[in-house]
Amino acid sequence: MTRPQLSRPPLTGASQGFFAVEIEPETFDVWMLDQRLLPGEILYHRYTRPDEVADAIRSMVVRGAPAIGISAAYALAQVARSQDGDAASFLVANGAAGRVLDGTRPTAVNLAWAIARMSRRASEVAAEAPADRARAMREEAEAIHREDVTACRAMGALGARDVPRGATILTHCNAGALATGGYGTALGVIRAAFEADPTVRVLASETRPYLQGARLTAWELHADEIPVEVITDGMSGHFFARGEIDFVVVGSDRICANGDVANKIGTFTHAVLAHVHEVPFTVAAPWSTVDLRCASGAEVPIEQRSREEVARIGDRVIVADGIGCRHPAFDVTPAKYVHAIYTERGRVAPAAGERPEVLRK
Ligand code: MRU
Repeated sequence: MTRPQLSRPPLTGASQGFFAVEIEPETFDVWMLDQRLLPGEILYHRYTRPDEVADAIRSMVVRGAPAIGISAAYALAQVARSQDGDAASFLVANGAAGRVLDGTRPTAVNLAWAIARMSRRASEVAAEAPADRARAMREEAEAIHREDVTACRAMGALGARDVPRGATILTHCNAGALATGGYGTALGVIRAAFEADPTVRVLASETRPYLQGARLTAWELHADEIPVEVITDGMSGHFFARGEIDFVVVGSDRICANGDVANKIGTFTHAVLAHVHEVPFTVAAPWSTVDLRCASGAEVPIEQRSREEVARIGDRVIVADGIGCRHPAFDVTPAKYVHAIYTERGRVAPAAGERPEVLRK
């Protein structure tokens, strides 16, 4: 597997053979692994302009809540580098690009969070010389990236403590190194659990229609030699009923103040099945995914994606022309089904009535 050489080690973490997104510190070029092509092809794109990065987020070259936040932050560093005017024009350009980036994908709050943090930094450095403020913006974006990796490691260690010995763990979608700054949220828990107990194994549900579980999660875990098998989304009930799933961990795109959790479509079904079979359903996410202004799941904007993604698998048409398809990209799992949420700030238990707010600093 080849990855582009940067003028410094990737922030993703040296052990990983790939990265989802990185910035070249000298040129501000943004490198992205094209996740639409995995696992068949490993192709990195180099983006020199923020509108290219926005397109890459929109078209799912990069995906996963923390990874799209980091990508947006890098795009705003590129905006800063392209501005040699006064403070006011720099702030106007930053604001305009932030609005475009924010509109690329609506559900993951990490995107808005990263843009807001970069905009605060832009206000602080606007009066500096163009080269200095560009460097400050790049360093802020890199800090967002680095902190995300640190957060993943912290929540991974925390969640791993709850994983029973020898457990078969179900995960959905991809909340791994590909979806974050590196290491992963749900896959961070799995990586840490496997490090402590090499007898754990994973069932990855394929995650129709975009197949992040089959294409990305299985690929990542297999590369780390963590035992993984892929199941179709509809099979989880069968395996729960047979007692073949001991623990569930997923990522999230937005965690509400009441503990409701938005994540990839299909998550809710696994959560209800876990509840019925008395298996812990857990969520790992950085604090940047927690949206305390969102009171409950009813307020989460759910991204609606195209009919085509449901009507085809690759080039193959599976729904005849003229027949409608529904495609909400995310669903909401009510707090009552969420046994635990792991963040870098600690653990909360929404099903036991605990709200994420207890971790607010
Ligand atoms: O549509 P995607 O692939 O961006 O959806 C990703 C997910 O639903 C992930 O579970 C979530 O973003 C958490 S990633 C750490």
